[in-house]
Amino acid sequence: MKQVKGTAPPHFFLNEIHLFSKVIYFRKTTISYGADLGKPKVYVTRQLFDDAIGILERHTEVEVFDGVDNAIPRDLLLSKVADVDGLLPLLTDTIDAEVMDAAGERLKVISNMAVGFNNIDLNAATKRGIYVTNTPGILTDTTADCAFALLMVTARRIAEADRHVRAGKWIHTWGPKMFIGSDIHGKTLGIIGLGRIGSAVAKRAKGFDMRVIYYDVHRRPDLENELGITYRPLDEVLSASDFVTLHIPLTEGTHHMIGEKELSTMKRRAFLINTSRGPVVDEGALYRALRDGVIAGAGLDVFEEEPINPVSPLLGLDNVVLTPHIASASVETRTKMAVTAAENLVSVLQGKEPPNLVNPDVRKVRPLKG
Ligand code: GLV
Repeated sequence: MKQVKGTAPPHFFLNEIHLFSKVIYFRKTTISYGADLGKPKVYVTRQLFDDAIGILERHTEVEVFDGVDNAIPRDLLLSKVADVDGLLPLLTDTIDAEVMDAAGERLKVISNMAVGFNNIDLNAATKRGIYVTNTPGILTDTTADCAFALLMVTARRIAEADRHVRAGKWIHTWGPKMFIGSDIHGKTLGIIGLGRIGSAVAKRAKGFDMRVIYYDVHRRPDLENELGITYRPLDEVLSASDFVTLHIPLTEGTHHMIGEKELSTMKRRAFLINTSRGPVVDEGALYRALRDGVIAGAGLDVFEEEPINPVSPLLGLDNVVLTPHIASASVETRTKMAVTAAENLVSVLQGKEPPNLVNPDVRKVRPLKG
C-alpha cells in the first residue's frame, strides 16, 4: 500500500484502515473463471486479453487480479499464490523465493508475460522444480519499430516541437533555424546486443541508408553477412556511432553497462536509445551527460525506477524523449504475448514441454510426466 503523507492517525485507526483495505482487496480483486475442483489452480497478476483467459479457463481454475494498469500489491500477491499450481506474472512483479514459498509445493510453473525475466529468481525456481517460461520472438518487430520511432522522434525533436505547438508558442512563421535536429539517413547506428530485437532494428536502419555497426558478447558472422553490418568492440561502437541503441538483457553483468565513462566515449552529437531495461544505464550519469552536452539526446522507454520518479531530473530536460515502457505495446503483440504465456503455462500443467522454457535444468529436478 502507498504510504499516505500527513498527520499520522492513532495506531488503532491505522490498523482499521489496513483491515478495511484488505476486505476491499478481497472483494474487489477476486475475478474467477473456470471454477472446478478437479482443475489445477492458476493465479494471473493483471487483467489480460479474453483470448488468453479463455485458454486458461478451459484447462484451469483461474483467478485474476483486477488491476489493469496497476501492479498487484506485494502482500496481496503473497496471499493469493497460496496453493496455486501455476502463476502468470508480468515484468512488474518480483517473483522471488518468498513468493515461491508462499505458493508452496504445488507451484509447477511461472509463466512470465514478457521476453525479459529479470523479475524472476531463476535459481530459486529451478531448485524448487518450478518451470519458468517467457514470450520470446513475438514482440521482436513491435519493439524494433518502437526503438526506431524513439530514435527518429529524438533526432528530429518531434516531441519537443509538438509541446511547442500545443503550448501556443508557434507565434512566428517557418524559420530556417526552428527545431533543427539531426539527420538519420546516412548516419552510423551502433547496436549493443545483436539478438532478435537488435537484428530487427538493423533491418530498419538499412532502409534508412544507415551504416550499422554492433557489439555483442557473441560475435555473429552469419548476421553480419545477412544484414550487411560490422562487428566492433564496445568502445569503438560507442565512439563511432551517431546513434547507440541498447538491446541487452538485464543481468549482473549488464547492470550500469552504460555509465559516465561510456557516455563520455560517445560523440557530442550522438543520441542514446534504450528500449531494453532501465538499469543497464546509470541514469544519474545519463542525466549529467544530457544536461552538460556530453551527448546530444536520448530516447528512453525504460527507467531505473518504473514508473519514473516524479522528481526525476530527466523530466526537466528537453533533449530526452520519455515513454512509459511501451515498446511492445501494440494490440496484436500484447494479445499474442498473453496467449503465449497462457499456452506455456497450460503445457507444463499438462505435463508437456513448454515452448519457451528458460530454466532447462528444472527438468532434472521435476521431470514432466506427459
Ligand atoms: C518487455 O519489456 C518484455 O520484456 O517483454
